Amino acid sequence: MPGFAYAPGSLLTVEHLSIADVAGIITTTARLERMEAAERARLLVRRTIALLFYESSTRTRTSFELAAKSLGATTTLVSDKSSSIEKGESLKDTGLTLRALGAEAIVLRHGASGAPFLLARTTGLPVLNAGDGMHQHPSQALLDLRTILNRLKLTGHVNANILHGITIVIAGDILHSRVARSNAMLLPRLGAKVILCGPEAFLPEDALGLGAGIEIERDFDRALQQADVAMMLRIQKERLADGGSNGNGLDLAEYCARYQLSGERLAAFAPTALVLHPGPMIRGLEIADEVADGPQSAIEEQVGHGLAVRAALLVRALGVAA
Ligand code: CP
Repeated sequence: MPGFAYAPGSLLTVEHLSIADVAGIITTTARLERMEAAERARLLVRRTIALLFYESSTRTRTSFELAAKSLGATTTLVSDKSSSIEKGESLKDTGLTLRALGAEAIVLRHGASGAPFLLARTTGLPVLNAGDGMHQHPSQALLDLRTILNRLKLTGHVNANILHGITIVIAGDILHSRVARSNAMLLPRLGAKVILCGPEAFLPEDALGLGAGIEIERDFDRALQQADVAMMLRIQKERLADGGSNGNGLDLAEYCARYQLSGERLAAFAPTALVLHPGPMIRGLEIADEVADGPQSAIEEQVGHGLAVRAALLVRALGVAA
């Protein structure tokens, strides 16, 4: 890790992960899944993990919590809505308080990009970034990777070529998406071609600077024709300049006509592609019901892989061999 030495086991950005780290996390995930429940529940017994959430979450919060409990850990949830954060307590002081109460690792979701770095620096604890602003969502990229590997039956050891020949289209509101950013920075390092697709307002040209192996294609149908995997993203109304009150002046009907993954579009341009969505989905906007619930969709499987991968990340954070 470059610069400041964050506590081993921290996961702040996919940029800090070597290919060997990614391979290790995927291997540990599989090992934990195969383990008897009783054996697994001994791994983190008498260990304490804090879940610190400043933004809403269903999948990430619940899967980290259930994963921690399945490993025998004690968890505590602190939300900005029902804690002294409401009274103005800072992130630093909240972290130091959790550490004083015995937390050995903190899972943090925060609206400000970079907040997990601050928390890791001020507490010295392993911090797992559960999504920071428009910056990173590294555990989501890892669970997306595992879903792709499993569905495409890429069973070999993870290496820099494991996704060679695979094209992944990420479509929708790329600009505001930490999921897009983490995936676009991780998947090409494993050999994938990543095509970003969306209108200029949601996909500025400088997205190409995320790294090698990334292309931009504005025409969704043309992008889909190349796709082995189509990852759909919702419009992040909460991050729009106008607070989402009128969708930033977006013509939703036009957006849907150009970028909605409908059953008709999928059948015409990507009849065998795997469909992913990190959730939450806005059905009828970026994705149609028949696609979300259809045979090409692995959206529910993604949630399951989230539980599995996050168990491996917690074990790694607390330095336990599994
Ligand atoms: N994918 C994701 O981060 O979902 P949640 O906001 O529900 O955690």
